[in-house]
Amino acid sequence: MKQTGGFFKVLRGLGRLIPGEWLRTWTYLNLVYSPRKFLRATAGGFYRMDHIYEVLKEFTNTYQGRFSILEFGVAGGYSFAKHLMAIRYLGLEDRVMLHGFDTFGGLPPVEHEADAALIRGDEWIAGHYRGDREWLDAYCQKKGYGNYQLHQGLFEDVLTPELLDQFQEWRPMLIWMDCDYYSSTRTALERVLEFLPSGCVIYFDDIYYNFSSTLTGQMKLVREVNQGLWGDHVELVPDPALSWDSQRIYRFINLDGPKLELQQRPQEDPVRRPIEDSPFP
Ligand SMILES: C[S@@+](CC[C@H](N)C(=O)[O-])C[C@H]1O[C@@H](n2cnc3c(N)ncnc32)[C@H](O)[C@@H]1O
Repeated sequence: MKQTGGFFKVLRGLGRLIPGEWLRTWTYLNLVYSPRKFLRATAGGFYRMDHIYEVLKEFTNTYQGRFSILEFGVAGGYSFAKHLMAIRYLGLEDRVMLHGFDTFGGLPPVEHEADAALIRGDEWIAGHYRGDREWLDAYCQKKGYGNYQLHQGLFEDVLTPELLDQFQEWRPMLIWMDCDYYSSTRTALERVLEFLPSGCVIYFDDIYYNFSSTLTGQMKLVREVNQGLWGDHVELVPDPALSWDSQRIYRFINLDGPKLELQQRPQEDPVRRPIEDSPFP
């Protein structure tokens, strides 16, 4: 197909001004391609801390009740502390509880084939991301945070019925899946499934592993859920606005699950009659 757009015309004009193929190539790569890539990444690129604030505001402004954020994979606590700060910044410490789940002993060994790397040398390594629960606890205490709980152990061991029961009142609004493995992500989500209201946000940190192949890692789970792994009533709907089109954020849907409740029911009938018929409102 013949290229004709404005960008193409500018490029052709610029190319004609520069002598020699080597200089033209250098100019293109360094003065055209690199700035274009940089601008795209800075203006349109996803940054994972942004949506924490969006989700906190959406849930607490729109729905009744109290909420929790569940972080699966805490390690040294880098993002855990950023969650606590977001809750504090928005003045929500009495309405939002943060739960952190980790062995704090680092990654368990790779046991499931869907957790294996497609590139030699890119494997997850057992023991990496070792955290220190006492240190993190002391750090959070020193900062005066009171709205958090740390749960040490494998997800399947610490997600007890007593803990899950808390989520009846403190509805999960955001699940932060940063545990690298397909198997760990599946275990965690399966355990909390029935407590998640439709609309709950699930952020997958490790979606790019293995080129985002849906045959491995967290993308495999997303595909399987949408193919009916937990029934035809459960779905993960991509949220392109929250994820800036990065495929990392989904809305959880469960037709049989608990329901969020609006703070204010609309009183007026929203029916509208014509006012003027151009596209202007
Ligand atoms: C990439 S790290 C988390 C990074 C962290 N969110 C941060 O902000 O730095 C992944 C963590 O998931 C934890 N993890 C993975 N599978 C787990 C499982 N089945 N049970 C408990 N922890 C698990 C590992 O111990 C590891 O600390």
